[in-house]
Amino acid sequence: MSPVLRPRRLRTTPAMRRLVRETRPRPEQLVLPVFVGSTAAPIPSMPGVARVTVDGVVDEARQVRDLGLGGIMVFGVPEESEKDDVGSQGWAPDGIAQRAIERIRDAVGDDVVTMIDTCLDEFTSHGHCGVLDDAGRVDNDATLECYARMAVAQARAGAHVVAPSGMMDGQVEAIRGALDGEGFADVAILAYSAKYASAFYGPFRDAVGSSLQGDRRTYQQDPANRREGLREALLDLAEGADMVMVKPASHYLDVVSDVAAASDVPVAAYQVSGEYSMIEAAAAQGWINRRAAIEESVTGIVRAGADVVLTYWAKELAGWWR
Ligand code: PBG
Repeated sequence: MSPVLRPRRLRTTPAMRRLVRETRPRPEQLVLPVFVGSTAAPIPSMPGVARVTVDGVVDEARQVRDLGLGGIMVFGVPEESEKDDVGSQGWAPDGIAQRAIERIRDAVGDDVVTMIDTCLDEFTSHGHCGVLDDAGRVDNDATLECYARMAVAQARAGAHVVAPSGMMDGQVEAIRGALDGEGFADVAILAYSAKYASAFYGPFRDAVGSSLQGDRRTYQQDPANRREGLREALLDLAEGADMVMVKPASHYLDVVSDVAAASDVPVAAYQVSGEYSMIEAAAAQGWINRRAAIEESVTGIVRAGADVVLTYWAKELAGWWR
Protein backbone atom coordinates (compact mmCIF):
# COMPACT_ATOMS: atom_id res chain seq x y z
CA MET A 1 0.00 0.00 0.00
CA SER A 2 1.31 3.42 -0.95
CA PRO A 3 2.08 5.57 2.10
CA VAL A 4 0.56 8.65 0.43
CA LEU A 5 -2.65 7.57 -1.32
CA ARG A 6 -4.77 7.21 1.78
CA PRO A 7 -8.13 9.01 1.44
CA ARG A 8 -9.29 7.40 4.69
CA ARG A 9 -7.25 10.06 6.59
CA LEU A 10 -10.05 12.50 5.86
CA ARG A 11 -12.63 10.17 7.39
CA THR A 12 -10.96 9.57 10.74
CA THR A 13 -13.18 11.70 13.00
CA PRO A 14 -16.63 13.30 12.79
CA ALA A 15 -14.97 16.74 12.91
CA MET A 16 -12.71 15.87 9.99
CA ARG A 17 -15.62 14.53 7.95
CA ARG A 18 -17.63 17.64 8.70
CA LEU A 19 -14.75 19.86 7.58
CA VAL A 20 -14.33 18.20 4.20
CA ARG A 21 -17.98 17.54 3.40
CA GLU A 22 -18.70 18.62 -0.19
CA THR A 23 -22.48 18.94 -0.10
CA ARG A 24 -24.22 20.95 2.60
CA PRO A 25 -27.94 21.12 1.90
CA ARG A 26 -29.77 23.91 3.73
CA PRO A 27 -33.42 24.53 4.65
CA GLU A 28 -33.54 27.68 2.54
CA GLN A 29 -33.17 25.64 -0.63
CA LEU A 30 -36.15 23.41 0.19
CA VAL A 31 -39.71 23.97 -1.03
CA LEU A 32 -42.74 22.37 0.62
CA PRO A 33 -45.49 21.11 -1.72
CA VAL A 34 -49.01 21.43 -0.24
CA PHE A 35 -52.39 20.11 -1.36
CA VAL A 36 -55.31 22.45 -0.76
CA GLY A 37 -58.92 21.32 -0.92
CA SER A 38 -62.31 22.20 0.52
CA THR A 39 -61.86 19.68 3.34
CA ALA A 40 -58.79 18.52 5.25
CA ALA A 41 -57.92 14.82 5.10
CA PRO A 42 -54.88 12.61 5.54
CA ILE A 43 -53.51 11.10 2.31
CA PRO A 44 -53.37 7.35 2.95
CA SER A 45 -50.65 6.63 0.39
CA MET A 46 -48.43 9.39 1.82
CA PRO A 47 -48.24 8.75 5.56
CA GLY A 48 -47.54 12.03 7.38
CA VAL A 49 -48.93 14.21 4.55
CA ALA A 50 -52.44 15.65 4.62
CA ARG A 51 -54.58 17.72 2.33
CA VAL A 52 -55.37 21.05 4.01
CA THR A 53 -58.07 23.69 3.65
CA VAL A 54 -57.52 27.30 2.63
CA ASP A 55 -57.34 28.14 6.36
CA GLY A 56 -54.92 25.29 6.94
CA VAL A 57 -52.59 26.41 4.18
CA VAL A 58 -52.08 29.72 5.97
CA ASP A 59 -50.74 27.77 8.92
CA GLU A 60 -48.47 25.78 6.59
CA ALA A 61 -47.11 28.99 5.06
CA ARG A 62 -46.35 30.43 8.49
CA GLN A 63 -44.47 27.26 9.39
CA VAL A 64 -42.54 27.46 6.12
CA ARG A 65 -41.52 31.00 7.03
CA ASP A 66 -40.71 30.25 10.67
CA LEU A 67 -38.62 27.21 9.74
CA GLY A 68 -36.60 29.22 7.24
CA LEU A 69 -37.64 27.15 4.23
CA GLY A 70 -37.32 28.59 0.75
CA GLY A 71 -40.89 28.42 -0.39
CA ILE A 72 -44.22 26.69 -0.71
CA MET A 73 -45.70 25.05 -3.84
CA VAL A 74 -49.50 24.98 -3.97
CA PHE A 75 -51.60 22.30 -5.65
CA GLY A 76 -55.34 23.00 -5.81
CA VAL A 77 -57.70 20.06 -5.35
CA PRO A 78 -61.20 21.01 -6.58
CA GLU A 79 -64.41 19.15 -5.82
CA GLU A 80 -65.27 16.40 -8.31
CA SER A 81 -68.33 18.44 -9.35
CA GLU A 82 -66.13 21.44 -10.20
CA LYS A 83 -64.09 19.59 -12.83
CA ASP A 84 -64.88 20.11 -16.50
CA ASP A 85 -63.32 19.18 -19.82
CA VAL A 86 -61.10 22.29 -20.00
CA GLY A 87 -60.26 22.62 -16.30
CA SER A 88 -61.75 26.10 -15.95
CA GLN A 89 -61.40 26.12 -12.14
CA GLY A 90 -57.71 26.43 -12.84
CA TRP A 91 -58.21 30.08 -13.81
CA ALA A 92 -61.47 30.99 -12.05
CA PRO A 93 -60.68 33.96 -9.76
CA ASP A 94 -62.33 32.13 -6.86
CA GLY A 95 -60.83 28.73 -7.74
CA ILE A 96 -59.36 26.84 -4.81
CA ALA A 97 -55.73 27.42 -5.79
CA GLN A 98 -56.20 31.15 -6.38
CA ARG A 99 -57.90 31.52 -2.98
CA ALA A 100 -55.04 29.63 -1.33
CA ILE A 101 -52.44 31.92 -2.93
CA GLU A 102 -54.31 35.05 -1.84
CA ARG A 103 -54.49 33.86 1.74
CA ILE A 104 -50.83 32.86 1.80
CA ARG A 105 -49.72 36.24 0.51
CA ASP A 106 -51.96 38.03 3.03
CA ALA A 107 -50.40 36.04 5.84
CA VAL A 108 -46.71 35.90 4.94
CA GLY A 109 -46.28 38.51 2.21
CA ASP A 110 -42.86 38.28 0.62
CA ASP A 111 -41.26 36.31 3.47
CA VAL A 112 -41.56 33.02 1.60
CA VAL A 113 -41.62 32.39 -2.12
CA THR A 114 -45.16 31.44 -3.08
CA MET A 115 -45.24 29.04 -6.01
CA ILE A 116 -48.09 27.36 -7.80
CA ASP A 117 -48.49 24.44 -10.15
CA THR A 118 -49.69 25.65 -13.55
CA CYS A 119 -51.33 22.55 -15.00
CA LEU A 120 -54.83 21.38 -15.80
CA ASP A 121 -54.80 17.77 -14.61
CA GLU A 122 -56.23 18.47 -11.16
CA PHE A 123 -59.08 20.41 -12.75
CA THR A 124 -60.11 18.38 -15.81
CA SER A 125 -62.83 15.75 -15.74
CA HIS A 126 -60.64 13.43 -17.84
CA GLY A 127 -57.55 14.05 -15.72
CA HIS A 128 -55.20 14.99 -18.57
CA CYS A 129 -52.81 17.92 -18.30
CA GLY A 130 -54.37 19.58 -21.34
CA VAL A 131 -57.55 19.88 -23.34
CA LEU A 132 -58.53 17.12 -25.76
CA ASP A 133 -59.21 17.35 -29.49
CA ASP A 134 -62.04 15.52 -31.26
CA ALA A 135 -59.95 12.38 -31.44
CA GLY A 136 -59.31 12.46 -27.70
CA ARG A 137 -55.67 13.51 -28.03
CA VAL A 138 -54.15 16.24 -25.88
CA ASP A 139 -54.16 19.33 -28.09
CA ASN A 140 -50.89 21.18 -27.53
CA ASP A 141 -51.75 24.65 -28.81
CA ALA A 142 -55.29 24.78 -27.43
CA THR A 143 -53.79 23.84 -24.06
CA LEU A 144 -51.29 26.70 -24.24
CA GLU A 145 -54.19 29.18 -24.27
CA CYS A 146 -55.53 27.63 -21.06
CA TYR A 147 -52.10 27.72 -19.40
CA ALA A 148 -51.72 31.39 -20.33
CA ARG A 149 -55.08 32.21 -18.75
CA MET A 150 -54.24 30.13 -15.71
CA ALA A 151 -50.83 31.72 -15.13
CA VAL A 152 -52.36 35.20 -15.31
CA ALA A 153 -55.05 34.25 -12.76
CA GLN A 154 -52.35 32.83 -10.50
CA ALA A 155 -50.22 35.95 -10.82
CA ARG A 156 -53.25 38.11 -10.11
CA ALA A 157 -53.87 36.08 -6.94
CA GLY A 158 -50.33 36.86 -5.84
CA ALA A 159 -48.06 34.00 -6.90
CA HIS A 160 -44.37 34.91 -7.04
CA VAL A 161 -43.63 31.90 -9.23
CA VAL A 162 -45.79 29.93 -11.65
CA ALA A 163 -44.68 26.40 -12.44
CA PRO A 164 -45.95 24.90 -15.68
CA SER A 165 -45.82 21.12 -15.31
CA GLY A 166 -47.85 19.89 -18.27
CA MET A 167 -44.98 19.30 -20.73
CA MET A 168 -46.72 21.06 -23.63
CA ASP A 169 -44.32 22.36 -26.28
CA GLY A 170 -43.98 26.13 -26.07
CA GLN A 171 -45.57 26.45 -22.62
CA VAL A 172 -42.90 28.73 -21.18
CA GLU A 173 -43.04 31.16 -24.11
CA ALA A 174 -46.85 31.24 -24.06
CA ILE A 175 -46.97 31.91 -20.32
CA ARG A 176 -44.21 34.53 -20.43
CA GLY A 177 -46.04 36.41 -23.15
CA ALA A 178 -49.34 36.33 -21.27
CA LEU A 179 -47.78 37.44 -17.97
CA ASP A 180 -45.90 40.30 -19.58
CA GLY A 181 -48.99 41.36 -21.51
CA GLU A 182 -50.98 41.65 -18.29
CA GLY A 183 -48.32 43.57 -16.38
CA PHE A 184 -46.79 40.66 -14.46
CA ALA A 185 -43.25 40.96 -15.74
CA ASP A 186 -41.89 40.26 -12.23
CA VAL A 187 -43.62 36.91 -11.85
CA ALA A 188 -41.07 34.16 -12.42
CA ILE A 189 -41.47 30.89 -14.30
CA LEU A 190 -40.17 27.66 -12.81
CA ALA A 191 -40.41 25.29 -15.76
CA TYR A 192 -40.87 21.60 -15.18
CA SER A 193 -38.52 21.02 -18.07
CA ALA A 194 -37.60 17.38 -17.89
CA LYS A 195 -40.65 15.66 -16.54
CA TYR A 196 -40.83 11.94 -17.04
CA ALA A 197 -43.87 9.66 -17.33
CA SER A 198 -43.12 8.08 -13.98
CA ALA A 199 -44.69 5.36 -11.87
CA PHE A 200 -43.54 7.35 -8.85
CA TYR A 201 -46.40 9.86 -9.18
CA GLY A 202 -48.91 7.24 -8.00
CA PRO A 203 -49.47 8.57 -4.45
CA PHE A 204 -49.78 12.17 -5.77
CA ARG A 205 -52.63 11.13 -8.02
CA ASP A 206 -54.40 9.83 -4.90
CA ALA A 207 -53.68 13.11 -3.16
CA VAL A 208 -55.28 15.22 -5.88
CA GLY A 209 -58.08 12.78 -6.63
CA SER A 210 -56.88 12.42 -10.22
CA SER A 211 -59.48 11.31 -12.74
CA LEU A 212 -56.87 10.06 -15.23
CA GLN A 213 -57.61 6.95 -17.28
CA GLY A 214 -54.68 5.78 -19.37
CA ASP A 215 -51.34 7.54 -19.18
CA ARG A 216 -49.45 10.72 -20.05
CA ARG A 217 -46.87 9.22 -22.39
CA THR A 218 -47.67 11.51 -25.33
CA TYR A 219 -46.48 14.53 -23.33
CA GLN A 220 -44.36 13.41 -20.37
CA GLN A 221 -40.98 11.95 -21.31
CA ASP A 222 -39.93 8.35 -21.72
CA PRO A 223 -37.91 7.36 -18.61
CA ALA A 224 -35.30 5.82 -20.91
CA ASN A 225 -34.27 9.19 -22.41
CA ARG A 226 -31.38 11.11 -20.90
CA ARG A 227 -30.34 13.36 -23.79
CA GLU A 228 -33.91 14.45 -24.31
CA GLY A 229 -34.05 15.75 -20.72
CA LEU A 230 -31.27 18.18 -21.51
CA ARG A 231 -32.93 19.16 -24.78
CA GLU A 232 -36.18 19.99 -22.99
CA ALA A 233 -34.32 22.13 -20.46
CA LEU A 234 -32.42 24.02 -23.18
CA LEU A 235 -35.67 24.74 -25.02
CA ASP A 236 -37.23 26.11 -21.83
CA LEU A 237 -34.18 28.29 -21.23
CA ALA A 238 -34.48 29.64 -24.77
CA GLU A 239 -38.15 30.39 -24.11
CA GLY A 240 -37.23 32.41 -21.03
CA ALA A 241 -37.59 30.06 -18.07
CA ASP A 242 -36.26 31.65 -14.87
CA MET A 243 -35.59 28.26 -13.28
CA VAL A 244 -35.70 24.76 -14.70
CA MET A 245 -36.76 21.58 -12.94
CA VAL A 246 -36.15 17.86 -13.29
CA LYS A 247 -38.78 15.46 -12.03
CA PRO A 248 -38.76 12.89 -10.46
CA ALA A 249 -35.43 13.40 -8.71
CA SER A 250 -33.75 10.30 -7.32
CA HIS A 251 -34.05 8.06 -10.36
CA TYR A 252 -33.03 10.90 -12.70
CA LEU A 253 -29.84 12.20 -11.10
CA ASP A 254 -28.00 11.87 -14.41
CA VAL A 255 -30.50 14.30 -15.91
CA VAL A 256 -30.18 16.65 -12.91
CA SER A 257 -26.43 16.59 -13.40
CA ASP A 258 -26.62 17.23 -17.17
CA VAL A 259 -29.07 20.11 -16.72
CA ALA A 260 -27.04 21.63 -13.88
CA ALA A 261 -23.92 21.59 -16.06
CA ALA A 262 -25.67 23.34 -18.95
CA SER A 263 -28.05 25.71 -17.20
CA ASP A 264 -27.31 29.36 -16.57
CA VAL A 265 -30.33 29.63 -14.25
CA PRO A 266 -31.08 27.81 -10.96
CA VAL A 267 -31.96 24.14 -11.24
CA ALA A 268 -34.69 22.53 -9.15
CA ALA A 269 -35.50 18.87 -8.64
CA TYR A 270 -38.78 17.43 -7.38
CA GLN A 271 -38.58 14.51 -4.97
CA VAL A 272 -41.99 13.14 -5.84
CA SER A 273 -44.69 11.36 -3.90
CA GLY A 274 -43.51 7.83 -4.70
CA GLU A 275 -39.97 8.65 -3.61
CA TYR A 276 -41.45 9.84 -0.33
CA SER A 277 -43.81 6.94 0.20
CA MET A 278 -41.22 4.26 -0.55
CA ILE A 279 -38.91 5.48 2.17
CA GLU A 280 -41.78 5.99 4.62
CA ALA A 281 -43.08 2.48 3.93
CA ALA A 282 -39.71 0.80 4.36
CA ALA A 283 -39.02 2.80 7.51
CA ALA A 284 -42.42 1.90 8.97
CA GLN A 285 -41.45 -1.75 8.55
CA GLY A 286 -38.18 -1.11 10.36
CA TRP A 287 -36.27 -2.03 7.21
CA ILE A 288 -34.26 1.18 6.90
CA ASN A 289 -33.20 4.00 9.20
CA ARG A 290 -35.80 6.63 8.39
CA ARG A 291 -33.88 9.82 9.15
CA ALA A 292 -30.65 8.62 7.57
CA ALA A 293 -32.48 7.53 4.41
CA ILE A 294 -34.33 10.84 4.10
CA GLU A 295 -31.17 12.90 4.57
CA GLU A 296 -29.21 10.72 2.16
CA SER A 297 -31.90 10.98 -0.50
CA VAL A 298 -32.03 14.78 -0.40
CA THR A 299 -28.26 15.14 -0.10
CA GLY A 300 -27.88 13.00 -3.21
CA ILE A 301 -30.21 15.25 -5.17
CA VAL A 302 -28.25 18.36 -4.14
CA ARG A 303 -24.94 16.59 -4.83
CA ALA A 304 -26.11 15.88 -8.38
CA GLY A 305 -26.53 19.62 -8.93
CA ALA A 306 -29.96 20.75 -7.72
CA ASP A 307 -30.01 24.25 -6.23
CA VAL A 308 -33.61 23.88 -5.07
CA VAL A 309 -35.37 20.69 -3.92
CA LEU A 310 -39.11 20.23 -3.64
CA THR A 311 -39.71 17.63 -0.94
CA TYR A 312 -42.57 16.56 1.30
CA TRP A 313 -40.00 16.30 4.12
CA ALA A 314 -39.05 19.99 3.91
CA LYS A 315 -40.40 20.92 7.35
CA GLU A 316 -38.84 17.96 9.11
CA LEU A 317 -35.50 18.49 7.38
CA ALA A 318 -35.51 22.14 8.45
CA GLY A 319 -35.85 20.99 12.04
CA TRP A 320 -32.90 18.63 11.67
CA TRP A 321 -30.70 21.10 9.77
CA ARG A 322 -31.40 24.17 11.86
C1 PBG B 1 -49.02 17.20 -12.86
C2 PBG B 1 -48.23 16.89 -11.66
C3 PBG B 1 -47.70 15.65 -11.29
C4 PBG B 1 -47.07 15.82 -10.05
C5 PBG B 1 -47.19 17.16 -9.73
N1 PBG B 1 -47.91 17.81 -10.73
C6 PBG B 1 -47.54 14.40 -12.00
C7 PBG B 1 -48.60 13.67 -12.69
O1 PBG B 1 -49.67 13.38 -12.13
O2 PBG B 1 -48.33 13.30 -13.83
C8 PBG B 1 -46.42 14.75 -9.24
C9 PBG B 1 -45.97 15.14 -7.89
C10 PBG B 1 -45.66 13.99 -7.01
O3 PBG B 1 -45.80 12.81 -7.40
O4 PBG B 1 -45.25 14.24 -5.87
N2 PBG B 1 -49.60 18.46 -12.77
